[in-house]
Amino acid sequence: MAIERTFSIIKPDAVAKNHIGAIYNRFETAGLKIIASKMIHLSKEQAEGFYAEHSERPFFGALVAFMTSGPIMVQTLEGENAVLAHREILGATNPAEAAEGTIRADFAESIDENAAHGSDSVASAEREVAYFFSADELCARTR
Ligand code: PPS
Repeated sequence: MAIERTFSIIKPDAVAKNHIGAIYNRFETAGLKIIASKMIHLSKEQAEGFYAEHSERPFFGALVAFMTSGPIMVQTLEGENAVLAHREILGATNPAEAAEGTIRADFAESIDENAAHGSDSVASAEREVAYFFSADELCARTR
């Protein structure tokens, strides 16, 4: 099994509803270690840059407006096959299609306010971690 890093966002809807601790509990129960974490309120420019690959999609403006509507939590998670393990506990992008017991099934209301984000590949994770964290903010979890 490969030890990987992945990137997570707890989005403005879930932060506003005080679900940070409950979602962190899901990460830790799944064996994912939080190796960096912070709360930030994205600027329009930061949100547009993070989601640049979706800039031509019809929902881009709504996505940027939502992601800048309040503070978010950003995390780097580490563990065995972390990218896939994290996507599995997140559930489908549309909470109406998310499997029972997943984060989006339990904490999200709709596809446009879907509680959390997770990197979709190791390459995306590297880019997304670096977008929010410098190398010296990533802590080694050796114990
Ligand atoms: S995914 O998970 O990247 O495969 O999902 P995708 O369908 O490509 O969606 C990319 C991100 O856009 C968000 N999204 C939306 N936002 C607002 N309105 C609508 N209709 C909508 N559809 C998709 C979706 O939550 C993804 O955000 P992230 O942060 O990557 O999960």
